[in-house]
Amino acid sequence: MGKMSITIASTLATASLFFGLAATQSSSGYASCSSTLSASHAAPSVAEGYVARLVANNLTSPRGIKFDGQGALLVVEKNSGITALTFNDAGQDCLTVATRRTVINDTTLNHGIEISSNGTTLYASSPEAVYSWDYSPMSQTNISAPQTLVANMTTSDHTTRTLLLSQHAPGLLVVTRGSTSNLDAEAEDLATGHSQVKAFNLTNQTAPYNFNTDGLLLGWGLRNDVGVDEEPISGGIYTVENSVDDAMRQGQDIHQNNPGEELNFLGYLNGTSSPNQGRNFGYPECFAAWNVSAIPDFSGTVGSQFAIGALNSTVNDTTCDDANRQAPRLTFQAHMAPLDILFNTEGTAAWVTFHGSWDRTDPVGYKVSVVEFANGEPVQASDSMTAAVDIVTNQDNSVCPGGCFRPVGLAWDNQGRLFFSSDATGEIYMVLRADGNATSTVGSNATGTVPSATSTSGMSGTSSSASATSSSAANTGSMSALAVIFGVLVFLL
Ligand SMILES: *[C@@H]1O[C@H](CO)[C@@H](O)[C@H](O)[C@H]1NC(C)=O
Ligand SMILES: *[C@@H]1O[C@H](CO)[C@@H](O)[C@H](O)[C@H]1NC(C)=O
Ligand SMILES: *[C@@H]1O[C@H](CO)[C@@H](O)[C@H](O)[C@H]1NC(C)=O
Ligand SMILES: *[C@@H]1O[C@H](CO)[C@@H](O)[C@H](O)[C@H]1NC(C)=O
Ligand SMILES: *[C@@H]1O[C@H](CO)[C@@H](O)[C@H](O)[C@H]1NC(C)=O
Ligand SMILES: *[C@@H]1O[C@H](CO)[C@@H](O)[C@H](O)[C@H]1NC(C)=O
Ligand SMILES: *[C@@H]1O[C@H](CO)[C@@H](O)[C@H](O)[C@H]1NC(C)=O
Ligand SMILES: *[C@@H]1O[C@H](CO)[C@@H](O)[C@H](O)[C@H]1NC(C)=O
Ligand SMILES: *[C@@H]1O[C@H](CO)[C@@H](O)[C@H](O)[C@H]1NC(C)=O
Ligand SMILES: *[C@@H]1O[C@H](CO)[C@@H](O)[C@H](O)[C@H]1NC(C)=O
Ligand SMILES: *[C@@H]1O[C@H](CO)[C@@H](O)[C@H](O)[C@H]1NC(C)=O
Ligand SMILES: *[C@@H]1O[C@H](CO)[C@@H](O)[C@H](O)[C@H]1NC(C)=O
Repeated sequence: MGKMSITIASTLATASLFFGLAATQSSSGYASCSSTLSASHAAPSVAEGYVARLVANNLTSPRGIKFDGQGALLVVEKNSGITALTFNDAGQDCLTVATRRTVINDTTLNHGIEISSNGTTLYASSPEAVYSWDYSPMSQTNISAPQTLVANMTTSDHTTRTLLLSQHAPGLLVVTRGSTSNLDAEAEDLATGHSQVKAFNLTNQTAPYNFNTDGLLLGWGLRNDVGVDEEPISGGIYTVENSVDDAMRQGQDIHQNNPGEELNFLGYLNGTSSPNQGRNFGYPECFAAWNVSAIPDFSGTVGSQFAIGALNSTVNDTTCDDANRQAPRLTFQAHMAPLDILFNTEGTAAWVTFHGSWDRTDPVGYKVSVVEFANGEPVQASDSMTAAVDIVTNQDNSVCPGGCFRPVGLAWDNQGRLFFSSDATGEIYMVLRADGNATSTVGSNATGTVPSATSTSGMSGTSSSASATSSSAANTGSMSALAVIFGVLVFLL
C-alpha cells in the first residue's frame, strides 16, 4: 500500500510536470524542446506508460548504434561508415541533434559496432572483418589507422557481423556470423565458420584471428543470430535468430507461421561450463515450431525442433530433438526478424527489435518488444507464445514494409533512455517511461501492470479516458493520462 501511494504521488508529480510542458508548448520554455523532425510515416504506437520520440533522421540506413563515453551516439550507416551525433538535451523527452560528424568514412561497414569500456577504442565490422581504431571521444575522430582483429568472413546473403564486448570476461569479443543463403548446406560443416557465434580474446592479440579456425565456439547451426547481448548479472550470452524462409514439410507449405524466430542461450564466457555452449542449435536441418498444428505429422510443443523437407532415415524429428540439437530458450512469431537484444541494467528485461517480415502474407514484427527476465533467464517457459510484450509498434502493419519504421539497433544513453535505429526510414527514436524512471532500470511490468496491449496514440487516449475517471484504477488512470498527453505531443511533433 505504501509503495502504491509513493508510485501514485510520483506519477502525479511527473504528470503535473508534463502537463506544464504541454500547456507551455508555445512558450520559450518549451521551444527548446520543439523539433522540426516529423516521422517519415505515421508516429509510433506506444504501450501505456511509455513515450517514443523521433530524435534524428536523414541517416543512411542506420544499423548498429552505441553511445560513446562523452554522450555522442555513434551510428553505423550501412555501406557508408560511422557517424557521431551529439544532442541538445533539455532532459526527459527533450532531445534534438546538435552536431553530426563523420567518424569513419568506410563503405564496407554495415552493422556491428562496439566501444571499449575506457571509451578509447572503437570497433566495427564489415562482411569480411572486424576492425578497431584508437578513438578520441573529445573530437569524435579516430586517431589511428584501422587494425584488423578478425578476418576471413566474406560470404553472401547474411553479411552482418554483430559485435559484443563481454563485461564479465573482459577482453573477449563476441562475433556473430550468419549463413550464406536461406538454407546453407555448408553450415553443416563446422570448418566453414558459417552460422556460428564465436568469442575472440583481444588481450595482447598479436595477429588477426581467422574466424573459421580461431576463437571459442559459443554455438553453431545458428542461421542468422544478428542480435547478441550478455545478461548483466549472470553473464549469460543470449542471441536472437532469424529463422528460415519458405519452409516446406512433407510436401506442404508451412511457411506462413513456421518456424518461429528464436532466443538462444549460449552459456557463459567466464570459463564456467554450460551444457548449451558450443552445441549445434539445429540449422540447416532443425527449426523451432511456432504454430504446431500447421506442421504435418508433428507431435512436439511450441519451441521444440522439427525437421523440414521430406523426412527420411537420416533427417527426421528424432534428429532434431533436444538430445541431438539444442532447442531455443524462447520462440517468437515466424518472420518477425529480430535484429537486436539489449538487457536492462538489472537483468529483469531484455529489449528486442523486430525488423519485420517479408515472407508472410500479413506483415508482422516492425516493433520493439520486451521479454521479462529473472534469475538469469526468461520468466516465461520455453513453449510460451506471449513472451515478447510489445512496447513500440507501427500503427498499421498492413502498410509495411514500405510505409513503416523498421527497428534495428538498440542502445542505452547514460540516463537510461532507450534508443533504436530504423534503417528503412533513416531515423533514430528514443523510448522513455512516462513515470520519469529510467527505462534501463525497470522491467516492463514494474509499474504494476504489464502493458499487454499496444494501442495507437489516438486509441490509447480514447481507452484511457474511461479508466482515468475510475477511482479504483487511479494509478493506471494517471499513467494513461500521461500516455494521452505524450500521445498528443508525439502526434503533433
Ligand atoms: C540530409 O543529409 C544530407 C547529407 O547526408 C544533407 O546533404 C542534407 O542537407 C540533409 N537534409 C536534411 C533535411 O537535413
Ligand atoms: C568519403 O570518402 C569518399 C571517397 O574517398 C568521398 O567521396 C566522400 O565525400 C567521403 N564522405 C564523407 C562524408 O567524408
Ligand atoms: C582502453 O581499452 C582498450 C581495449 O581494452 C585497450 O586496448 C587500451 O589500451 C585502453 N586504453 C587505455 C588508455 O587504457
Ligand atoms: C581513421 O580511419 C580511416 C579509415 O579507417 C583511415 O583512413 C584514417 O587514416 C584514420 N585516421 C588516422 C588519424 O589514422
Ligand atoms: C585472454 O588472454 C589473456 C592473455 O593471454 C589471458 O590472460 C586471459 O585469461 C584470456 N581471457 C580469457 C577470458 O580467456
Ligand atoms: C600483455 O602484454 C604486456 C606487455 O607485454 C604484459 O605486461 C602483460 O602482462 C600482458 N598481459 C597478459 C594478460 O598476458
Ligand atoms: C584467411 O584464409 C586464408 C586461406 O583461405 C589464409 O591464407 C589467411 O591467412 C587467412 N587470414 C587470416 C587472418 O587468418
Ligand atoms: C561464471 O558465471 C556463472 C553464472 O553467473 C557463475 O555461476 C559462476 O560462478 C562463474 N564462474 C566463475 C569462475 O566466476
Ligand atoms: C534425408 O534428407 C536430407 C535433408 O533433406 C538429405 O540431405 C539427405 O540426403 C536425405 N537422406 C536420405 C537417405 O534420403
Ligand atoms: C531418424 O533419423 C535418425 C538419425 O538422425 C535415425 O537414427 C532414425 O532411424 C531415423 N528415424 C526414422 C523413423 O527413420
Ligand atoms: C514481472 O512479473 C513477473 C510475473 O508476475 C514477476 O515474476 C517479475 O518479478 C516481475 N518483474 C518485475 C521487474 O517487476
Ligand atoms: C521509480 O524509481 C523510484 C526510485 O528509483 C522507485 O522508488 C519507484 O518505485 C519507481 N517507480 C516505478 C513506477 O517503478
